Amino acid sequence: MASLIFFSLLIASFVAAASAGNFYQDFDITWGDGRGKILNNGDLLTLSLDKASGSGFQSKNEFLFGKIDMQLKLVPGNSAGTVTAYYLSSKGSTWDEIDFEFLGNLSGDPYILHTNVFSQGKGNREQQFYLWFDPTADFHTYSILWNPQRIIFSVDDTPIREFKNMESMGVAYPKNQAMRIYSSLWNADDWATRGGLVKTDWSQAPFTASYRNFNANACVWSNGASSCTSTKNSSNAWLLQELDSANQEKLKWVQKNYMIYNYCGDTKRFPGGLPKECNSGF
Ligand SMILES: *[C@@H]1O[C@H](CO)[C@@H](O)[C@H](O)[C@H]1NC(C)=O
Ligand SMILES: *[C@@H]1O[C@H](CO)[C@@H](O)[C@H](O)[C@H]1NC(C)=O
Repeated sequence: MASLIFFSLLIASFVAAASAGNFYQDFDITWGDGRGKILNNGDLLTLSLDKASGSGFQSKNEFLFGKIDMQLKLVPGNSAGTVTAYYLSSKGSTWDEIDFEFLGNLSGDPYILHTNVFSQGKGNREQQFYLWFDPTADFHTYSILWNPQRIIFSVDDTPIREFKNMESMGVAYPKNQAMRIYSSLWNADDWATRGGLVKTDWSQAPFTASYRNFNANACVWSNGASSCTSTKNSSNAWLLQELDSANQEKLKWVQKNYMIYNYCGDTKRFPGGLPKECNSGF
């Protein structure tokens, strides 16, 4: 009860920074020796991968909670062996992380969207999905809602995964460490496509993934303080957002028709019993 009241007070005092993105302003290309590029006056970012190297970028800001949207268009054609990772992560040995990873495939075969949540250095919470569209034909919006109660992964506004705060059951929840946004395109043909059976065809290189329309409604963390602690602001509904019944139905639809792996169903992997959070209906 005390912690509920504490949360309510905390939330009432949040004021968030909204930003409609410009890649020059919001991100740094961090590696890849020219393979990552910001184009069109900051409206477009591309990462590429060839035999010598992949590439990556990271946000200039760190965030502690946010609703973060990015549009991605994935490597087209034969993308087998390539992985496009797009995620939030903090630093250190007990880091928190919220992951989208897109595992490429042969032309015409489906990508896998791999998701994971790490809290205080512990992950092993994979859920994997096929998509209901070709993610290489056009841009689609991939969103992470991260607030004190839940993490919701969405694709084109359709929720695909929810990870609730279950600290009351002894499950650590990411809520004390600021995270940056990272993305990278790299070669992972030792495991990515059909478990590593299909290798990268380097004659198809360079492989390119594209990004646009970054939008963050988020609490920026800098010099040990959040942009959300000072003033009251009622427009930050996302800090309390949850799935309404229509969205719960959509989530069920995705999980029923497109989920291909759920760690919570993998009893072989956890012979000592499924992780605690799995016993509450996930
Ligand atoms: C409330 O938040 C919105 C977006 O987060 C911001 O644009 C607006 O200026 C804020 N209002 C106040 C009174 O701080
Ligand atoms: C690639 O296609 C194969 C055959 O359809 C499928 O089994 C696999 O899940 C697909 N995705 C990846 C990343 O291996």
